[in-house]
Amino acid sequence: AIDVSTLTKQTGYTALDYGFVNTASTKSEITYIDGDEGILRYRGYPIEELAQKSTFIEVAYLLIYGELPTPEQLEGFTNEIRRHTLLHEDMRYYFEAVPHTAHPMAVLSGGLQTMSTYYESSLDTTVPEFVEVNTIRLLAKLPVLAAYAHKKSIGQAFLYPDNELNFVENFLRLNFGNKAEKYEMNPVLVDALDKLLILHADHEQNASTSTVRLVGSTGANMFSSVSAGINALSGPLHGGANEAVLDMLAQIRDSGQSVATFVEKVKRKEDGVKLMGFGHRVYKNYDPRARIVKESAGRVLEELGVNDPLLGLAQELEQIALEDDYFKERKLYPNVDFYTGVIYKAMGFPTRMFTVLFAIGRLPGWIAQWREAREDRQTKIGRPQQLYIGSPERHLDR
Ligand code: ACO
Repeated sequence: AIDVSTLTKQTGYTALDYGFVNTASTKSEITYIDGDEGILRYRGYPIEELAQKSTFIEVAYLLIYGELPTPEQLEGFTNEIRRHTLLHEDMRYYFEAVPHTAHPMAVLSGGLQTMSTYYESSLDTTVPEFVEVNTIRLLAKLPVLAAYAHKKSIGQAFLYPDNELNFVENFLRLNFGNKAEKYEMNPVLVDALDKLLILHADHEQNASTSTVRLVGSTGANMFSSVSAGINALSGPLHGGANEAVLDMLAQIRDSGQSVATFVEKVKRKEDGVKLMGFGHRVYKNYDPRARIVKESAGRVLEELGVNDPLLGLAQELEQIALEDDYFKERKLYPNVDFYTGVIYKAMGFPTRMFTVLFAIGRLPGWIAQWREAREDRQTKIGRPQQLYIGSPERHLDR
């Protein structure tokens, strides 16, 4: 790799790189991707092994601290997270203030920023103990905020977390339990959601993670940086794609048009329509996460006894696209988002919660990357150049 900053100084040239297609913004030890081969590893471990043999909490520990936890470390980490799950009671006024029609992603990022105001005395990013406690606070409280955003949108009462339950069980109960009856845990859902969270846990310098690092580079605290990351994730070209995929599938179903007709429309780029859940800046091969999600989707729907025609539509769409020259030439394959929505829907989440689930999964990655940047002596404030193409100097004619 060329160090462009030195080159720029030596030659006086500025590299113009729309979308940072060929510009590295940092060195990192966290996640490795080979987009041509379809390889993804967290701290050296292949994603397939982690999805099969570990839990989301172990993966969170791995990403943040660099190694898988020993049993004692895992117990300590889990207990710390449990101790911090409660939100300040006054946060109820925040939820009272937002309309029930608010998008849960907006409620999540706003809620996180609001929550940070309860920890003003421990936001100083130069104090390592504060960084530790805020790491735990984020992991413990963001899922609770997310579940309350969901409950608010459907007009149901919030539940307090139950510390007898594990991370994913707690999250499911907070979303789907109610005060009147005991929530029946479905191990199939727990396992499937745990896997999905693992698959989303980090993806090196994607748009939201780069946002977290950029905001962090100014010295902003972890809450503000992650809150910005949530906003970056919300767009349909990034995390918002999982919501957009389901909308697209429902649209195809409701329009009565054939899948092949829809694909032709995409190829003609009519009205800028894209095949949502397809394509990736880095993967020019099958996204390894998409392969795992696809298997999981079939299994979850079968075990839940759900017969969702949208899964069939997605499979048909994939089949047609994979055999079509437009997609082959451009190396467009399903990405992680293509099948996740079908699973989330079967679990009972409304479409507008899908990207929130992505955010919960991505949280350990954002934290790990924010911390890595904080510890890296070479980190500078992020500040891209521009090439000015506006008006030359002119003057007010008065
Ligand atoms: N459907 C149809 N055509 C596509 C698609 C798609 N999903 N994605 C890319 N293309 C086409 C582009 O129009 C372009 O065609 P051209 O060469 O004729 O101009 C070519 O493929 C290259 O695409 P770019 O836009 O240059 O690719 P880029 O790397 O900038 O974009 C992105 C990647 C944003 C993911 C894009 O593929 C896309 O919009 N996909 C749909 C949204 C989506 O699923 N996003 C989730 C990404 S994964 C994630 O965030 C978790």
